[in-house]
Amino acid sequence: MVTDEKTTGVSRRNFLQAVGVGSSAGVMFATMGAVGLAPTAAAQPRNESWTPPRGSDFSLTGRSAKKVVVVGAGPAGLATAYELQKAGYRVTVLEARHRVGGRTLTIRGGDAETDVNGVTQKAQFADGVYMNAGAGRIAQWMVTMDYLRELGVPYEVFTNANADAYLYNERSGATPGNPVRYRTAKADVFGYTSELLGYATDQGALDQKLTAADKENLRAFLRSWGSLQADGSYRGGSNRGYAVYPSAWNEHGTPLPGPGSVSEVLASKVGQYFPFEINWEQSMLMFQPKGGMDTTYDYFVKAIGKQNVQLSSPVTAVKNTPRGVSVTYTAPNGKARQIDADFAVVSAPAGLMRRWDTNWGPDVDAALGEFAVGSPAGKIGLQYRSRFWEDDHRIYGGITETDMDLAHVWYPSYGYGERRGLVVGYYNTGANARAYADMTPRQREMRAVEQGVKIHGEKYRTELESSFSIAWHKVPYIEGAWAYPNTQSSRFKLLQQGAGNVYFAGDWMSEISAWQHGAFWAARYAVQALHARVMAS
Ligand code: FAD
Ligand code: PHE
Repeated sequence: MVTDEKTTGVSRRNFLQAVGVGSSAGVMFATMGAVGLAPTAAAQPRNESWTPPRGSDFSLTGRSAKKVVVVGAGPAGLATAYELQKAGYRVTVLEARHRVGGRTLTIRGGDAETDVNGVTQKAQFADGVYMNAGAGRIAQWMVTMDYLRELGVPYEVFTNANADAYLYNERSGATPGNPVRYRTAKADVFGYTSELLGYATDQGALDQKLTAADKENLRAFLRSWGSLQADGSYRGGSNRGYAVYPSAWNEHGTPLPGPGSVSEVLASKVGQYFPFEINWEQSMLMFQPKGGMDTTYDYFVKAIGKQNVQLSSPVTAVKNTPRGVSVTYTAPNGKARQIDADFAVVSAPAGLMRRWDTNWGPDVDAALGEFAVGSPAGKIGLQYRSRFWEDDHRIYGGITETDMDLAHVWYPSYGYGERRGLVVGYYNTGANARAYADMTPRQREMRAVEQGVKIHGEKYRTELESSFSIAWHKVPYIEGAWAYPNTQSSRFKLLQQGAGNVYFAGDWMSEISAWQHGAFWAARYAVQALHARVMAS
């Protein structure tokens, strides 16, 4: 038997048991904090490494405000411009695309996109129907929430997990028309694993790890977690959901068929989806701006001043000069233009910057190349004339998971109960995303529907009105969904220092690539470094 006393002199476990007896869960939890097992109020996450530049930094020190060119009007570029301008810098943002937001693209009716192969799609979505083609969800702890609040962007809950959404693993035995609901899958997986763990405990298999009191606490937990019978077995129960839910009088609830055997439940591989819900980036509650993710960036532009953000102006050269920087771009009329400034902050995808004419040298160039391979991801928005997933399937938001090449199906977290709605019919990455990207838009729609029908039935085909699909590695000036840098490498550290009067920002310059949070923090650090330079000069 293992006792903590042997090593520490004080048993943390016994201490907790003693405190737990006769005290409330709140006292118990707070005490866990005291011994380092659970967070206390004093251990809230902090963002203290950010000191925003202030206007008074200039006025009080007699310095003149500097001029900065920001390349890219995605989250990193716009946050850079916003923070600098708040402190009195003069900023010009140059954006290659016809709209701001970068990979936070929201597609609404009338929007058109042309991919790198020249294939154009125009969205036919109805008023109020939209698809977040890139970023879709925000965790509560992310700095993205702070910007929504600071700018006054309205937001609402994004449902990232729903007990009534489906799991459909056709490679592990699921058959068309027979998806399993999350709640049923959880009841069965938790039930059987609890039964097995209880059995192992009773057989003495855990005696090296647990005291007698630990075992009793574990058994009590397993009984409720796994809905176990008095004899410790799992035989299903109301947590699985019902074929007919209880109502009144003689309808006591008709149980779902099952559960299957422990072997069948393990073979279905549904448990593989559960960790997602407790992932530090993905756990509920999550949020979305009302009306589409890129709404956020309209607010940024308003704060920065529309006249300071130039669209359809791709940058082609960034050069350090003796006095600062010179940035060359192609204006909407096709003519080359040049802006001279004190500094530049560049936030385009790293790999694409290597195509520019620059003089920052081979080391910086090599570093950019190393961290910049954007991976593929794709989504399709399917607009339906009725919300059969709500009416028939009783799924109001959330995500269905599959082992098919469409991977995830997202139900809308807005417009509940309205007539029309939009389902994200696939959200996939890697080889699956490439396979869909290689099809025509019409073929993508047909394939997505063909598979979705297996889960949702024929209405998934017959109620369809229109679709719009995106393949991120084919979007001009972006060419990839995200890139994961090695933030410990010396090359990454080289980029953190900037190159002369040029600083780098972008989610790829952060610890949390593939999230706006990372882009915002990369912007903040670039701003901080630039401002420290200015104040030291
Ligand atoms: P970008 O958004 O890529 O912006 C870079 C900008 O630079 C673009 O507008 C581009 O056009 C411009 N540019 C490129 N070349 C030039 C040039 N030569 N001249 C001028 N401008 C140029 N984040 C979340 O927070 N939540 C999510 O749920 C989420 N899901 C995602 C799902 C998908 C499918 C994708 C693709 C992304 C997702 N993200 C999510 C990530 C989020 O979108 C990015 O982290 C964020 O957009 C990165 O911001 P950025 O400014 O670094 O880059
Ligand atoms: N941030 C993106 C999303 O939430 C990409 C991502 C997916 C990142 C899963 C981490 C985990 O869809």
